[in-house]
Amino acid sequence: MSYNDDIEMLIEAQDLTLPPPEREPQRQYYFIKKCREIIKKKSEELGRPLYACSVCMGCQMNAKDSEKLTGILETAGYEITDSQEEADFVIYNTCTVRENANNKVYGRLGYLNGFKKKNPNMIIGLCGCMMQEKKVVEKLKKSYPFVNLVFGTHNIYKFPELLAETFQADTMVVDVWDETDKIVEDLPAKRKYSFKSGVNIMFGCNNFCSYCIVPYVRGRERSRKPEDILEEIKKLSSEGVVEIMLLGQNVNSYGKNLDTPVTFAHLLREAEKIEGIERIRFMTSHPKDLSDELIDVMKHSKKICKHLHLPLQSGSSRILKEMNRRYTKEQYLQLVDKVRQAVPDIAITTDIIVGFPGEREEDFLETMDVVKKVRFDSAFTFIYSRRTGTPAAAMENQVAEDVVKDRFDRLLKEVQTIAQEKAMEHTGKIFPVLVEEVNRQDDSFVTGRLSNNSVVHLKGDAGLIGTIQQVKLKECRGFYYIGEVISQDEKKVW
Ligand code: 5AD
Ligand code: SF4
Repeated sequence: MSYNDDIEMLIEAQDLTLPPPEREPQRQYYFIKKCREIIKKKSEELGRPLYACSVCMGCQMNAKDSEKLTGILETAGYEITDSQEEADFVIYNTCTVRENANNKVYGRLGYLNGFKKKNPNMIIGLCGCMMQEKKVVEKLKKSYPFVNLVFGTHNIYKFPELLAETFQADTMVVDVWDETDKIVEDLPAKRKYSFKSGVNIMFGCNNFCSYCIVPYVRGRERSRKPEDILEEIKKLSSEGVVEIMLLGQNVNSYGKNLDTPVTFAHLLREAEKIEGIERIRFMTSHPKDLSDELIDVMKHSKKICKHLHLPLQSGSSRILKEMNRRYTKEQYLQLVDKVRQAVPDIAITTDIIVGFPGEREEDFLETMDVVKKVRFDSAFTFIYSRRTGTPAAAMENQVAEDVVKDRFDRLLKEVQTIAQEKAMEHTGKIFPVLVEEVNRQDDSFVTGRLSNNSVVHLKGDAGLIGTIQQVKLKECRGFYYIGEVISQDEKKVW
């Protein structure tokens, strides 16, 4: 029986003639059943199914939350669609790490309102990090009154209850909490991929990097119990999942706040033992917390992927101090050396911010120096975005836009040149590839990933999806490869 089948039995067992239970998740099962009745009735009135569309606008954590939203919507009786235009319920799971993410949401709301005018049944919901900002909720109330439901990151598990309330409400339902210490397990989820899945191991962040809004919108660090995580992975494996991505804002400090503390390295060792799981990824590692124990586990693991995402943010020790990152340029470089000594073929990727307040040309050159020394396999580069409420937003010496743009372009060029050179080094070699999907441009090809996270396109059909194939990288085209599944004979040679 699958995870969702177990939940289904518990939902059906709810008695709607009684008041809702106080305990979670039973309370939400009760409201799912209630929503089911409402949706069924509406659908009978309209003589057609009701459609729901869930849009994820953020990081992997958001994507994981969106799978929960979709699972709840489907369990409540909606048919899931990708089309916002035909949906009766649209929910945006928002991000707020940079200001342009917020602007995108406001832009899209105008467009959704157009659809809503054509379909008066349409319900618009907003959730996620952006909703945790007070000024956002005020703006929505004032200028976007056609939005029906707003909730934040801390009470996503309450979605069934809020949905039931929205069906009955005439005005916007708003429920945003400042904090929570709760982790509610066992809600339905609809996975986007059958063979790979994200697994939350912790929520929130305690680091307070001075530019970052995440600790304010995601709250303090809370780790899930290792037994709950391992149980979820076992269930996923029994359902055919071969690759898991352990998710947290700062996975290296996993387990520190549990009643019985455990380390992230310990959790990885336990996850590695689970049969059927072939690949383990994790995201994101803070350099200050990356332990020798973790490096040792990575060195000896057969399943942990050869990829480490290690955000640098800046190469200048002075700026790193201002950013409250709690490591220096030298410590970062030493850490990279240590990781590469232990796992020589590991791909190291990073995040870099350009234009942090007070960044001078010499600071920027320090960042360029780290980029040249480390030679990242790829890097996400960001222009600093001033986030209200963070310490950096109040810093006086914000860098002029044209200076930032020029530095950003120089950085991007360097990062891309190195990434391409590094990718070229693997041409001609054979690697295992997990095939993920039919190629979007040409359906005679499929697309998959190497353990180091590089993308490979190869001839093949949907039958290969979810399988791990030995693939020869025939050609490198910048950031991706064209590969070919190798024959049994060739396999013997290698
Ligand atoms: N401006 C620009 N980039 C940011 N990030 C976080 N906050 C900001 C900000 N205010 C970047 C960091 C982080 C990534 C997820 O987003 O590089 O690692
Ligand atoms: Fe933001 Fe720093 Fe926490 Fe990452 S570690 S989420 S950058 S505060």
